[in-house]
Amino acid sequence: MSTASPSIVVFISGSGTNLQALIDATTSGALPATIALVVSNRRQALGLERAARAGIPTLVAPRRAWQIGDSDRLAYDESLANEVAAYNPDLLVFAGWMHVMSDGFLARFSGKMLNIHPSILPAFPGKSPIADALAYGAKVTGVTVHFVEPGDFDTGPIVLQEPLAILDDESEASLLERIHEVEHRLLPRAAQLFLQGKLQLVGRQVRIGDA
Ligand code: GRF
Repeated sequence: MSTASPSIVVFISGSGTNLQALIDATTSGALPATIALVVSNRRQALGLERAARAGIPTLVAPRRAWQIGDSDRLAYDESLANEVAAYNPDLLVFAGWMHVMSDGFLARFSGKMLNIHPSILPAFPGKSPIADALAYGAKVTGVTVHFVEPGDFDTGPIVLQEPLAILDDESEASLLERIHEVEHRLLPRAAQLFLQGKLQLVGRQVRIGDA
């Protein structure tokens, strides 16, 4: 058995606070892994600075608003998949990555991709789940970490979920802050469980056990 530290590629689009939680967990030893590469589709993403500060290689891969099946988009996904595969990652983590990858990309890394989503899926999928939960008047929302599988980004088997009550005077900013606190615990924990081989898929159910 190899004793090399498992490697993770993290995909971001924005501030990268979840990336920071992963970096901190690897630094403290809570997550015994190496972040081999950080991919951002936005050159100005603050998360790139976090990666640079931690000495992690970065790849900026700007995307356009492609349509499903667009041949340029498929070429982009294939080239990005090749660059990511060159790092031979054990795990891909989508941590605020704001673009759905094509099935070709997802099939290539099937079974080793996790995504974090700021709602209790299947409620409030999509790009603005926090605002959507508030606008709906929901009393509870929360955080989901799930596998990503070819077919649809927000519908993969659920690894961890934690609910959060929405307060009467809640603003989007206050809810985001409380959601982040949960996310920053759940995401490193899910990555650790995966890399320890403790996640077992039984149908759609992810069982967490001793490996
Ligand atoms: C997080 O809330 C994540 O759940 C969502 O995008 C946000 C990214 O935040 N998918 P950050 O860039 O990690 O701060």
